[in-house]
Amino acid sequence: MRDGTEVTANAATDARLLSRAHAALNARAPGSRAFWFVDLDAIRGRAAQMQQALKPLRPRLHYALKANGLPAVARVLRECGLGADAGSMGELELARACGFPAGGRTLSGNGRTAEEAAWVARHGVETVSADFPDELQLLEAEAARAGVRLRVALRVNPGIVAGGHRHIETGHAATKFGMSAREALEVWRAAARWPHLELDGVHVHVGSQVADTQPFVDSARLALELAAECAGAGHAIESVNLGGGFAVDYDGRGREPDLAALASALVVLPGASRVQWCFEPGRSLVAAAGSLVAEVLWDKRRDDEGVEHRFVVLAAGMNDLLRPALYGARHRIVPLSPRDGAPTSADVVGPVCESSDTFATGVPLPPLERGDLVAILDAGAYGAVMSSHYNGRSSLPQVTHEGGRLMLAAPAEPALAASTLAAPTPL
Ligand code: LLP
Repeated sequence: MRDGTEVTANAATDARLLSRAHAALNARAPGSRAFWFVDLDAIRGRAAQMQQALKPLRPRLHYALKANGLPAVARVLRECGLGADAGSMGELELARACGFPAGGRTLSGNGRTAEEAAWVARHGVETVSADFPDELQLLEAEAARAGVRLRVALRVNPGIVAGGHRHIETGHAATKFGMSAREALEVWRAAARWPHLELDGVHVHVGSQVADTQPFVDSARLALELAAECAGAGHAIESVNLGGGFAVDYDGRGREPDLAALASALVVLPGASRVQWCFEPGRSLVAAAGSLVAEVLWDKRRDDEGVEHRFVVLAAGMNDLLRPALYGARHRIVPLSPRDGAPTSADVVGPVCESSDTFATGVPLPPLERGDLVAILDAGAYGAVMSSHYNGRSSLPQVTHEGGRLMLAAPAEPALAASTLAAPTPL
């Protein structure tokens, strides 16, 4: 992130260290042809930079666990002083298991279930974000049953188009998220209908991979206007949550929002000093700290009527890193020990039986041999968490690096779980 401070050293781009991790992993689990690598120290560095840049706002930062749910990652961010934002029951459990206290947990998302509402009423959260007015009855019922009062922020859809791909835009009318500003005002006016809910927050999350600061400023302005209108009607809004969404620089061209400039733009907005600012960053904390390292299975050259087409087939596929197939995302791909020879253009693909199993096309790569290693960079966010067992493939092991030490943080999980093999049980 651009904020005037030095970029933190990042072991996830250190070719020698990644090769050492591969060797160490294979000494323990032979045949580990691909793995995730996460540099926990780099995550600490990113968190510190973000905290420094946003300091004028004195914000509450909740790490969006959906970006990378590895417990070691969550623990590091808790140690950095962040809270955790969960989007499901599983992430609520993860937050609790990783030691985030009730007052440092938030719950967001649009498919609230009775079980999640009961969980937060029983175990506690800082705030729950409500996606639409009918959800309040569910939260009210569970809060009443548990005899507690829940703090609730209303998720408002501000009608702002932002995000790196249409699949990850969330702030305009065509997306399923949030209620209209008018609906939110009606809820606040009628707040007495939900006596077990403290309806004192506004939540806006306009999208992910947002490279400019303007959409955040626009949504903040709207949130503050709503808060002012609400205060005029006698109902106080204590917090403004701008969600996550800060872009990372996947292509090395420096397109990341300037968070210090964002903080400067927000503090001067009318009413800014009267609210608690909150953010839920995910990607921007963890993406650059992670790499997907894979062996080359084949450097395949096909002669298409005199035209050579080169495919570098990796031991990792779209089931591991879905982002290129799903969003057309382009991650940098680098060989760890480049051989001599002029680079030529290659399509980097995986072994899954689909043509969408392509990490990138037209990548200039030197000659490669079977067993050579390549790293797919900036894979620490929405990588392992979105992987699947498609094509009967095992999940990949996860290696962390912290204070010079390599750890196996999660072993590979086979596709064929024992429970799947068990005989079906009658219902
Ligand atoms: N808060 C809410 C309510 C969210 O829905 C999200 C992300 C975040 C915070 C964190 O946003 P971030 O800072 O990570 O941009 N799988 C996609 C990204 C999906 C984002 C989903 N929501 C990708 O790989 O690009």
